[in-house]
Amino acid sequence: MNFPTTRLSRLRANPALRRLVRQTTLDVSNLIMPLFIHHGNNIKNPIPSMPNQFQWSVDRVTEFARQIYDLGIPAVLLFGIPARKDPIGSDTWDDQQGIIQNALRALKSAVPDLLCITDVCLCEYTDHGHCGLLTERQGSQIIDHDATCEKLALQAISHARAGADILAPSGMIDGAVASIRAALDENEFKHIPIMSYAAKYASAFYGPFREAAQGAPQFGDRKTYQIDPANSDQALQEVKLDIDEGADIIIVKPALSYADIVHRVKTTFNVPVAAYNVSGEYAMIKAAAEKGSLDEKAATIESLISLRRAGADILITYSAPDIAQWLK
Ligand code: PBG
Repeated sequence: MNFPTTRLSRLRANPALRRLVRQTTLDVSNLIMPLFIHHGNNIKNPIPSMPNQFQWSVDRVTEFARQIYDLGIPAVLLFGIPARKDPIGSDTWDDQQGIIQNALRALKSAVPDLLCITDVCLCEYTDHGHCGLLTERQGSQIIDHDATCEKLALQAISHARAGADILAPSGMIDGAVASIRAALDENEFKHIPIMSYAAKYASAFYGPFREAAQGAPQFGDRKTYQIDPANSDQALQEVKLDIDEGADIIIVKPALSYADIVHRVKTTFNVPVAAYNVSGEYAMIKAAAEKGSLDEKAATIESLISLRRAGADILITYSAPDIAQWLK
């Protein structure tokens, strides 16, 4: 490989040549759109920190879900904002009144073939805003992982009963996948896959989401259960554990500052990997585009292609409907 015999610019000379040698693709088939379900009726609340994203009530979300399905997006990921919060997040396993259970029934009857993935976590449902039950150790409040697993299992079965297609535990609770898998299997839900947020970092990029889902911790932070951004081996340990516990798809989150993790997970385990392009990553491009500093479409597509190049099979992104339109 020597110049002048080798000239790498030859294959970049025109769009057709570039297309011919392109290694990575962005396709609507691999996209998941997150949706925020708000209690009440006739609600479509704009989320100020996330331009063009909304909180939807159950009665209004079905129409939007139909549009998502018609755009070819195969799946939505549901987050709930319940009417009432309590210390243990009991809305999450309420078969009759639970916000997600109601949303599932409405969505599965309105758009049966749209995959409904549910967030299995307590943070949007607890009054303290943490992802698990609290207990005290030496005078400070900490997460009780073992007690939380029991509640997550209840939440998971209740979601499955209401029609969830895939369950996505996101709390970084030790043992959550094993306990959810066992509960599903004992309750005739052997066929329901688990998409685990195995490698979830304690990130500043979740800021806008916490406003959108009204799930910010009321004291402290999540550094005692989410991974320290300076580490990568721990992410691989987490992923290995979750695969051994029965996870079918692995999520890496956030995505853009963690492409190395996406790559290591993919090359080490060869399982389906989803990269979660989180709220802060979405908001950054939107803000820069509004100021005229970035071309929104080009920057969004480039970010998502970079995650596919890193090894992500699936992209969870608030831009899913935009991308679906752009790719048409
Ligand atoms: C927790 C959860 C969070 C996100 C998804 N699930 C927030 C957190 O851990 O604080 C963040 C998603 C985003 O920022 O887009 N249930």
